[in-house]
Amino acid sequence: AATTRYEAETAPATCDGLIESNHTGYSGTGFCNGDNAVGAASQFTVSASETGTATIGVRYANGTTTARPADLIVNGVTVLSMSFEPTGAWTTWATKTAAVQLDSGNSTIRLDPTGADGLPNIDYLDL
Ligand code: GCU
Ligand code: CA
Repeated sequence: AATTRYEAETAPATCDGLIESNHTGYSGTGFCNGDNAVGAASQFTVSASETGTATIGVRYANGTTTARPADLIVNGVTVLSMSFEPTGAWTTWATKTAAVQLDSGNSTIRLDPTGADGLPNIDYLDL
């Protein structure tokens, strides 16, 4: 099936921080710069065409030298942990993929940082 791109800066997506555009290379009009804190999340509402395992791609930048871990929470349930490794610069974006079980229809996918540095900058989620 075709991929749909959900931009972090576009409602109904939410960002516990600021939508910014000061680091080039992002898609759309900006990215989510989450607060540097545990739980400062970036959330997407996605629509799956069928029930089953789906591959999501999260595009992000981490210009530090330290990985930033986050829980991936689907409809309120933590389903896996992700680690967003350094990308070398805030203007260098990478895509991290994960396989998630989704029911057909809408689901919320929440990236919930578990470290005090918060999330990396989040550009979009592809499904
Ligand atoms: C810098 C950078 C931000 C980033 C932040 C962070 O301030 O400019 O885009 O979000 O570091 O460490 O999270
Ligand atoms: Ca930040």
